[in-house]
Formats: sequence, C-alpha cells, structure tokens
Amino acid sequence: MYQPLWRDERAELHRRDYAKILATIGGLTAIASLAAPLAGLTEVFERKYTGPVYSDGVALVDSEGEQITEDRLSEGEQLTVFPEPRPGIADAPTLLVRFPESEYGEGTNMEYTVGGYAAYSKVCTHAGCMVADRDGTTLVCPCHSGRFDPLAGARVTGGPPPRRLPQLPITISGDGYLVATGDFTGPVGPGGG
Ligand code: FES
Repeated sequence: MYQPLWRDERAELHRRDYAKILATIGGLTAIASLAAPLAGLTEVFERKYTGPVYSDGVALVDSEGEQITEDRLSEGEQLTVFPEPRPGIADAPTLLVRFPESEYGEGTNMEYTVGGYAAYSKVCTHAGCMVADRDGTTLVCPCHSGRFDPLAGARVTGGPPPRRLPQLPITISGDGYLVATGDFTGPVGPGGG
C-alpha cells in the first residue's frame, strides 16, 4: 500500500460528503461499504459552466484567493490552485507541482512549465474524483487508485483512468505571479475522448 504524502482538505471534504450521503441512503449497509475503496462512486466533480477554464493572463490563486509567487513551493511540493475567480467560473481545481526541471521527461510540454512548475487538472479523467494523494512523485486518485506521472505529462501509469490529466500552460507574470497563458490542453474530467 502506498503512503500518501498529501491529502488535501478539498478531497477530504468530498469523501466526507459521500460518507454522509451513503449513510443516509443505506444505513448500516452503506456504512459497511465505506470499507471499500470508494468504488462505485459516480462523478464527483461536475463542471457547471461552459467555455474555457483559463485563458491568457488569468492568475492562479490558492484556496484563500491569494496569487502564487514564484517561490511559493519548494521542489517536490504540490498545491491545489484555481483560476482567479471571474463570472461563471466557480471551481476549477488545478494541481500545481514543482520539480527540478531536469526531472521532467517525455510527455510534459516544457513550454508550458516555468521555474520547475507544471500545472495539471486535478479532476480525474475516470469518474471525476479529485486527484488528491501522492505516492512518491506519482499523483494518485483515491477513488479507484488511478495513477498519473506528473513528470511525464501526467500520463496514466495505473488504474482505470482512460487518459492523462490535461496540462495547463503557465508562466510568471511581470509582477512575479504564476499565470496561465491559455486553457488546459484537453478536456477536464471524465468524457471528452
Ligand atoms: S475517479 Fe476512478 S480512478 Fe479517479
């Protein structure tokens, strides 16, 4: 079994929400089902808007709405960020990771990285759970153990996800904050081919 290094609060929130729903619907049977690795969950993340998530110049912000400075993360760390709020965009979780540039390999679009930072959608391409865990450098989805390699363009390395997490092109703005230079390279979450 892997030992998650991180489990962010947003993911825990989703898991607690599901626990409550399951307990309400199915009583003891549902409670027993919590022992299963959350198998059978349907889509957790629902996109409630259409159109691009990010666009050129949209700042990345943390859960408090603070913009991300270049020195925010050390190598090996990760952070859940969002597009700076604007009308129609309520929630678009994004995983910001930082590794030594030399560790990125085939699959990661290096033109879309900056200072060792790469950003990927946090929404699992299998059933939409939040990719909230880590096993070494591997990003792990807690719902059905989907695994993604952030050093190889978040390609799938295990579990049922049908495709990689789309990468977000980022750069550092003139005033020193991480910003997008466009939208994700592919569809966010399940579906979308
Ligand atoms: S939702 Fe099934 S592995 Fe992520």
